[in-house]
Amino acid sequence: MNLELGLVHLSYCSQACGPIGSADLDQLLDTSKTNNKRDEITGLLTYSGDLFIQFIEGPKASIDRLMYRLRGDRRHRGLIVLTEGGEHERLLPDWDMELVTPQEAHHLLREALRESDRYGTVIGLTRLLAKLQPDRYQSHI
Ligand SMILES: Cc1cc2nc3c(=O)[nH]c(=O)nc-3n(C[C@H](O)[C@H](O)[C@H](O)COP(=O)(O)O)c2cc1C
Repeated sequence: MNLELGLVHLSYCSQACGPIGSADLDQLLDTSKTNNKRDEITGLLTYSGDLFIQFIEGPKASIDRLMYRLRGDRRHRGLIVLTEGGEHERLLPDWDMELVTPQEAHHLLREALRESDRYGTVIGLTRLLAKLQPDRYQSHI
């Protein structure tokens, strides 16, 4: 068990401003992994060819700074925060930022839900899982 003080998590969805090719997606992930390592952020991203859903967790100041950058990023628009919460422990400790299919995201977050005993996290993850129903959200990868 690896407890951290002041850990928060957040998920959002947004719409891609245009088609994002695999080279652009690779570049986005490269930047994200480098920055997230520096900023102690972990999480996952799914992309449908139209919609992004991202789950991020880390120190509150890092998450606030990333959200500020994300809100100004012209590659997507209409960012809506889906869930927010606090935790003692990371749900995805090993992932700087992994691109996964909605099916994989669903599986991972369901595992995280099983292990979480915090009311806010349980509510947030349950809502996020409903949005990620794999049959309602087609994958691009
Ligand atoms: C859908 C999406 C997800 C992103 N995820 C991250 C992320 O997890 N970490 C990150 O640092 N930047 C992420 N970015 C990029 C940021 O918006 C921003 O361009 C980047 O952090 C700037 O980094 P730089 O100052 O090193 O160039 C994402 C962008 C998009 C469109």
